[in-house]
Amino acid sequence: METLRWQKGQLILLDQTKLPMTEDYRTCTSWQDVYDAIAILAVRGAPAIGVAAAYGAVLAARSLDQTAYGGDTAAFCADFEDLCRRLDGARPTAVNLHWALEQMKETARNAAGQGMAAIVPALEAKAVQLHQEDVAINTAMAEYGADELAKQGKTLTILTHCNAGALATAGVGTALGVIRALHKRGLIRMVYADETRPLLQGARLTVSELMADGIPVTLITDNMAAWVMKTKGVDAVIVGADRITANGDTANKIGTYGVSILARAHGVPFYVAAPVSTFDLSLQTGEQIPIEERDHDEVRCFQGVPAALPDAAVCNPAFDVTPHKNIAAIITEKGVLSHPDAVQVPAFFAEFTEKR
Ligand code: MRU
Repeated sequence: METLRWQKGQLILLDQTKLPMTEDYRTCTSWQDVYDAIAILAVRGAPAIGVAAAYGAVLAARSLDQTAYGGDTAAFCADFEDLCRRLDGARPTAVNLHWALEQMKETARNAAGQGMAAIVPALEAKAVQLHQEDVAINTAMAEYGADELAKQGKTLTILTHCNAGALATAGVGTALGVIRALHKRGLIRMVYADETRPLLQGARLTVSELMADGIPVTLITDNMAAWVMKTKGVDAVIVGADRITANGDTANKIGTYGVSILARAHGVPFYVAAPVSTFDLSLQTGEQIPIEERDHDEVRCFQGVPAALPDAAVCNPAFDVTPHKNIAAIITEKGVLSHPDAVQVPAFFAEFTEKR
């Protein structure tokens, strides 16, 4: 199963709203199709959203009639950037969406120097590049993460939340990439996957991904995590991220914050696996991260079946923020950032920027 594929100028997405029961694909031929797919979570997970948005930007540029600009590339780029801003509004929390679109805008501006005809091919090449890079980033992250967790020197019982797997990226996944690499080394005893209400990314996606790879996995409901940590010998928690601020505070799927508190209470190290594109160094703390509030029927209903009165008051934040003090380390494709805080995060970035 491929999460996303660029084929003959169209973006083909595995429709994750239907998994694991049905393997269905959506074809996006316009940037609005990509917007809709991101908004309804047909494609989801921060890195996958970023790659999808990059292809969405190609479709946006193509939707503009080049001949109408009479060679005015600046006007073309201004309209292109306006479409990118609209696409950027599909989901607010995962910064990878914004990051990818910023890359695409810069690519258009640079290509404009070679004339109007150069812009769309340059955008397409850039989107393909971001797609391929995500595959390599995942692989590097997986190995760094496996090296880090292997330091425990035993086979591991791991708990994860939501889906930070192949379905959330273009590659092996972030948190699940690390788990895959540990499994290859014979170091996974068991993975406990929180079901992740309200949309069940854990039950529907993580469990089926790990089962398909023959990795031992046990599905639990979200409210079992504390007891599982107490009674099942959980050695580490590993999750993905949607945005990490300059002090290491990390937004991820709603429920992650609670899991981090439980991990701390049980002395279980809590790891975040995320590419550097998930860091937003323009924000100082997690309090500044915009948190997406989703449709309240996602909570009132369970997979479309009513579970509460239709007028029940609901709150449905899609993400929460784990304070950096609860995080043992952030695993990236550039290495492992231990004890992230307002000093360590900038120092880590300074170090790998210097190495370039
Ligand atoms: O609402 P979703 O399914 O897009 O939320 C996804 C998550 O919270 C993931 O953990 C995160 O994006 C990291 S994916 C590698």
